[in-house]
Amino acid sequence: MAQDLLKGKKGIIFGALNDMSIAWKVAEQAVAQGAEIVLTNAPVAMRMGAINELAAKCNNAPVIPADATSEEDLQKLFEGAMEHFGGKIDFVLHSIGMSPNVRKGKHYTDINYKFLQTTLDVSAISLHKTLATAKNLDALNEWGSVVALSYIAAQRIFPDYGDMADAKSLLESITRSFGYHYGVAKKVRVNTISQSPTITTAGSGVKGFDEFIAYSESMSPLGNADALACADYCVMMFSDLTRYVTMQNLFHDGGFSNTGVSMEVISKFAPEE
Ligand SMILES: NC(=O)c1ccc[n+]([C@@H]2O[C@H](COP(=O)([O-])OP(=O)(O)OC[C@H]3O[C@@H](n4cnc5c(N)ncnc54)[C@H](O)[C@@H]3O)[C@@H](O)[C@H]2O)c1
Repeated sequence: MAQDLLKGKKGIIFGALNDMSIAWKVAEQAVAQGAEIVLTNAPVAMRMGAINELAAKCNNAPVIPADATSEEDLQKLFEGAMEHFGGKIDFVLHSIGMSPNVRKGKHYTDINYKFLQTTLDVSAISLHKTLATAKNLDALNEWGSVVALSYIAAQRIFPDYGDMADAKSLLESITRSFGYHYGVAKKVRVNTISQSPTITTAGSGVKGFDEFIAYSESMSPLGNADALACADYCVMMFSDLTRYVTMQNLFHDGGFSNTGVSMEVISKFAPEE
């Protein structure tokens, strides 16, 4: 189903750890739609992951390691990508999240504050650093599109999501604020896609994730959106078909966010006959 939606476009994709990663699917779908890409991930993740396998599948895309919390690494990444492409970049996927508090099972009311700094730096401030690096280098073309992945815990409490909820709120706020400034200066758009719970390495780190996925499935009229569907939405956001969409948090969740209760869930509370 080649449609060439991204023909001639060049992008950087952060966060493909393994073939379950949402970023992995985005890379595959973007290339299938005609894009040229550069892949990146934290140096430590490269050792664990299978990113070279993905690079080979994506027309031998270059892989440039970068810790997204390091401004120096980000600068080298954008410079390296522009050198490879021989020009500016059209789209960026920020698909990065990590909380040491969640990983170590710390209760939200008893978090380690150093860990919280890491959660916020890795999962949210890294988007600011990415955008600032791109803007300072004038690395993005006009009407370029930056998408970061979020989760509805930015708006509503999901107890086991811990301090990642605070990181996602900050991520969405940076999207609005930087989206304003980058839009005015260079017509670059910045959005978040708020994705259904999805089985990936990061997702599975959340306690009770399987039950949670089942709950979300039963609360979503269309069911949970999977990683491939998320990748298709990202491609649409990178394309010229969404040129005037910016500073938004876009729910991609099968209707979960607007559902108060579903008949399937309510039936579980019906008295036994
Ligand atoms: N899986 C879900 O249920 C779900 C739902 C909504 C949103 N999201 C978001 O989607 C994004 C991608 O997560 P995923 O579910 O594909 O899991 P994943 O574990 O495959 O991806 C997370 C990525 O973040 C990278 N990363 C961590 N620290 C980094 C650093 N310092 N520098 C650069 N990269 C770093 C990891 O190496 C990994 O590739 C995250 O922002 C996550 O919060 C996931």
